[in-house]
Amino acid sequence: MHIAVLMGGWSAEREVSLSSGAGVADALEGLGHRVTRIDMGRDVAQRLAAAAPDLVFNALHGTPGEDGSVQGMMDLMGLRYTHSGLATSVIAIDKVLTKQTLVPHGLPMPGGRIVKSAEVHERDPLPRPYVLKPVNEGSSVGVAIVTEEGNYGNPIAADVKGPWQEFGELLAEPYIRGRELTTAVLGDRALGVTELRPKSGWYDYDAKYTDGMTQHIFPAQIPDEVADACKALAVEAHRILGCRGASRSDFRWDDSQGVDGLFLLEVNTQPGMTPLSLVPEQAQHTGMSYAELVQWIVDEALN
Ligand code: DAL
Ligand code: MG
Repeated sequence: MHIAVLMGGWSAEREVSLSSGAGVADALEGLGHRVTRIDMGRDVAQRLAAAAPDLVFNALHGTPGEDGSVQGMMDLMGLRYTHSGLATSVIAIDKVLTKQTLVPHGLPMPGGRIVKSAEVHERDPLPRPYVLKPVNEGSSVGVAIVTEEGNYGNPIAADVKGPWQEFGELLAEPYIRGRELTTAVLGDRALGVTELRPKSGWYDYDAKYTDGMTQHIFPAQIPDEVADACKALAVEAHRILGCRGASRSDFRWDDSQGVDGLFLLEVNTQPGMTPLSLVPEQAQHTGMSYAELVQWIVDEALN
C-alpha cells in the first residue's frame, strides 16, 4: 500500500511531530508499505495530490494538523487518513470545547475560566494553586503552574515578553495536587494506566521528551478502583468525542481523595509516536510492538 506520512508543519510541536513521523514512516517501510514522507508546508495539498497515496498517516501534532483544518482539507480531496476526523479534532484540540462536550456527560474535569493573557500579569485569575494553559496547544507548550510558593513557567513575573503574549487567551484551572496518569485507547479498548513521575516535579515539555527525565510506571501503582476509572473515562471520552483509531487521555489524581480525586484533563487525538511516547509504550506493555500498533492504526483508518 502507498502511504503518505504527514509530519512536521509549523506548530510549536513541530519537532515532536518530525520524531513521530520518522518512527511511523520507518515502521511502515519495515512492514513493506511504500511510503512518501511529507514535511507539511503551505503546499501540502499540492504535494498530497501529486503523491496520490492510498492512505495518509497523520503524524502531525498541534495546529493545523490536529485541529480539524488538515482533516477538512483531506476530506475535500477525498483522501483517507488515520486518526480522528474533522469535527472530533476541532473539539478535542480545544480544552474549553472539550470540557463543554464531556462535562454534561458526567465526566469529571477541573473547573476553570478563560482569561486574557494580559490579565494574568495583573492579578491571579483563581486562588492559588492554579494552572494556566493555552486553549489549544499540546506537549505542555505554554503551560504554567502558579503555586503559593511561586510560579513555575513564569506567567506573572516581569517577563511579559515571554510566550504569554502569543496566546491571547488562556485557560485557568485549579491545580490538582497529586499524581499524573495517562491512558491510551485503541478503538473501544483502554490499554492501561501509566503514572508519570518527572524528576523535576513537573511533566513539562523537557520532561516529556528528554530521555531519563521522567519515570514511566506501568501499570501505575494505584488502587484498582482508580485504574478502572481511568480506563472507563478514557474509553467514554473517546466514544463521546467520536475519536477514531488511537487517542490518549491525560489525568490528574489527588491521591488524598480516593477515586473522587480523579480528573480528566484532556483527550489527545494525535498522540505522540516518538521513542518516549506513551501510546506506543502502553501498546508494547500489552504485547503489541510499535510496528503492530502502526499497522493497527492503518487498518482502523481503512475500516
Ligand atoms: N501532544 C503530544 C504529541 C501528545 O499528546 O502525545
Ligand atoms: Mg495534549
